Amino acid sequence: MALLEVKNLSITFDTKKGPITPVRDISFVIEKGQSLGVVGESGCGKSLTNLALMGLLPDNATVKAEKMSFDGNDLKSLSNNEWQKIRGNRMSMIFQDPMTSLNPSFTVGYQIEETLKLHRSELNKVQRKKRLLELFDMVGIPDPARRLSQYPHEMSGGMNQRVMIAMSMACDPELLIADEPTTALDVTIQDQILNLLLDLQKQTGMALILVTHDLGVVAQNTSKLQVMYAGEIVETGDTQSLIHSPRHPYTRGLLNSHAGHGHPFRSPLPSISGLVPDLFHRPKGCQFKPRCDIAVKECELEQPQMIDCVRCLKVTGSLGGQQ
Ligand SMILES: Nc1ncnc2c1ncn2[C@@H]1O[C@H](COP(=O)(O)OP(=O)(O)O)[C@@H](O)[C@H]1O
Ligand SMILES: [Mg+2]
Repeated sequence: MALLEVKNLSITFDTKKGPITPVRDISFVIEKGQSLGVVGESGCGKSLTNLALMGLLPDNATVKAEKMSFDGNDLKSLSNNEWQKIRGNRMSMIFQDPMTSLNPSFTVGYQIEETLKLHRSELNKVQRKKRLLELFDMVGIPDPARRLSQYPHEMSGGMNQRVMIAMSMACDPELLIADEPTTALDVTIQDQILNLLLDLQKQTGMALILVTHDLGVVAQNTSKLQVMYAGEIVETGDTQSLIHSPRHPYTRGLLNSHAGHGHPFRSPLPSISGLVPDLFHRPKGCQFKPRCDIAVKECELEQPQMIDCVRCLKVTGSLGGQQ
């Protein structure tokens, strides 16, 4: 059984300007221990998808899904009590900015200890302290005994993100969702944090969803890749094959605009012209058509999924049994 299974998930918001559907009919599966990279420009629905998986969407969001299950548990019908057993315990998430995830009024040690009290009630105070020190050691926080009694503002952004990682690892999750975990950090420490996450994944065997702008990172460290555009998954597959023979013009555009791909010294970097569609005025048919340099009239007629996109497949030579 897959660890996570999502079938036809859509997320709609009722806004003053009318309803919008930033995530449309997406389906994917994650196996135990698998690492999934998720890429796509800002506003493509990556974070909303993650929040839906964690049951953390705002109240004005409506979630529709044929299936959304974690290790056989139907996430759509969990009670608060049941959510508590899964969220922060078997499945946890770290966000872009550690400063907005940590509570400024409490020491970092206290905040992680609260997680342990909630999910590991069998541990006594001494055992919890031992686990806290172990966790800080695991995420490379030096002088853990002193750090535990510090407040978030007494630490650097990188150190706070290590605290968040320690908190998310406190209960040995089976799935960790890392949503652009280094975007808010200094460039110099981004690599350290990413390497830490990837090491932890390898050590513990947990599954990882890694949302990042860095195609180089996903290319080297994830086994499966998912490309999102305008709330849809336009292409997905084994990371190496997808990077080496992308089929969707959007994936090709992303790869071309990535510095490390093929022409490292190319300058200026090509980027995909145009913008992701305004969700209130979605284009007809293929959402990428307005920006696609190989689009034809028929792309506007219906909603071609990547796999049916005859035009895309013809251009990349994937028709004729090569799939
Ligand atoms: N609470 C909300 N109400 C209305 N629209 C929202 C809300 N949250 C996000 N959106 C819209 O959903 C789209 C996708 O958001 P998000 O998942 O955060 O994108 P990504 O993480 O890929 O950058 C955005 O265009 C955003 O405007
Ligand atoms: Mg996001």
